[in-house]
Amino acid sequence: MTIESIAQSAYLVAALLFILALAGLSKHESAKSGNTLGMAGMAIALVATVALAIDRKIEPMGLGLLAVAMVIGALIGLQRARRVEMTGMPELIALLHSFVGLAAVLVGWNGYLLVEGGASPAESLALSAQGTLGIHHAEVFIGVFIGAVTFTGSIVAYLKLSGRASSSPLMLPGKNFLNVGALVVFAGLTVWFVISPTLWLLILVTVIALLLGIHLVASIGGGDMPVVVSMLNSYSGWAAAASGFLLENDLLIVTGALVGSSGAYLSYIMCRAMNRSFISVIAGGFGIEAGPAEDKDYGEHREVTAEQVAEMLNGADSVIITPGYGMAVAQAQYGVAELTRKLRDNGVKVRFGIHPVAGRLPGHMNVLLAEAKVPYDIVLEMDEINDDFPDTSVVLVIGANDTVNPAAMDDPTSPIAGMPVLKVWEAHNVIIFKRSMASGYAGVQNPLFFRENSAMLFGDAKDRVEDILRAL
Ligand code: TAP
Repeated sequence: MTIESIAQSAYLVAALLFILALAGLSKHESAKSGNTLGMAGMAIALVATVALAIDRKIEPMGLGLLAVAMVIGALIGLQRARRVEMTGMPELIALLHSFVGLAAVLVGWNGYLLVEGGASPAESLALSAQGTLGIHHAEVFIGVFIGAVTFTGSIVAYLKLSGRASSSPLMLPGKNFLNVGALVVFAGLTVWFVISPTLWLLILVTVIALLLGIHLVASIGGGDMPVVVSMLNSYSGWAAAASGFLLENDLLIVTGALVGSSGAYLSYIMCRAMNRSFISVIAGGFGIEAGPAEDKDYGEHREVTAEQVAEMLNGADSVIITPGYGMAVAQAQYGVAELTRKLRDNGVKVRFGIHPVAGRLPGHMNVLLAEAKVPYDIVLEMDEINDDFPDTSVVLVIGANDTVNPAAMDDPTSPIAGMPVLKVWEAHNVIIFKRSMASGYAGVQNPLFFRENSAMLFGDAKDRVEDILRAL
């Protein structure tokens, strides 16, 4: 058996492990083993790739560079993964996607310089003898395009998610025309490049794709960012698959296609859950127009103290807790779990209502509550609990904002119009835990705060929950 065939078999095993990893990650109970299978697959893939490089007589200099790159990559990866807070996960993922995009651009350019650029005449001759030179031109061009869109799009997503750039959508005049125009120009340039693969065409498509990536993601408002992250995940998969074709690496093609298709499907599911048009989001907010500037007077809000909330909870029959991003920031889940135990011991019916995009990553709230040992059976999805609010004595909105905003249902001009929300305002009393009257991630004011049955409990959610526990 040659090293080549062993490595190809190892690639097959790694691809199977990646598929099993995805299957494992789809369920809470098997998520940990899913992760382990994915890590094993990646380790096998790395060893096989290095063995292949040695077998193909890589120069000592190349081998040295490979080792240095792997050590630096592993160190940065370990350090970032160890340090990252749960709330910083989506921005880290966005940053990692940008690396995949950049790698695809570099692989594409390398392919061009070797073959079309004439640096490796032997490779160029071999491809033209096989009659696949035209396919190589297309692979280079398409790979660079997808990679560059992913690269800049992911950087903008990283900036928006980490709060370094505004989360409101960029509204350039004729923005739909710009996006569609860029795609049409790309299609035309691809045909041109396949016929005549000149350097300036490759430079042009790289610049167009870099700008398109920025514009696509900048045009999307804060509320729709979850879909953008999974969409960029999908793009990064296709970019990796394109690199796989260029490098003739089957594993990269299989893995890229897996990531690409699962990311696209996740985006589709999220769009359905948030009542958004899939096409509109992948086309950079296509068809979404800016709403009028907010100058509405919502009236006065009411404030309560932790002691008053404790009193209210003492007299309650049923309580629903709707957590959001603020609970994660405050790390209030342990106090919330303790409060739940105490209320249940006192005979109060306590349940949780979880919005599909509460927090900053899919399943964010479920993970936090599971970590704090809140029983699974009282943690309900939005659709399971949304009709129960009218029979609820008290709702505790702990650090949630956009996901409980009635404007999504009542105001067709709102940037979050049409997004399903938890109908907390239908309960008898609503207590909102937050530090100020500031808006949520989508940047829109929340009329819930000014309703008659609502009251604000200002301060850090963890501190306020502890105050209530003391007063109970
Ligand atoms: P948000 O709308 O983000 O609002 C969170 C609220 O928590 C803020 O209004 C903030 O108000 C409050 N807060 C922050 N720190 C706090 C603390 N220490 N103590 C108490 N309150 C605190 O939350 P949400 O309802 O969970 O909605 C999620 C939003 O993020 C949606 O727009 C969603 O589309 C978007 N998003 C979601 C995801 C995924 S996949 N879940 C990914 C990216 C973006 P103060 O500053 O006044 O305290």
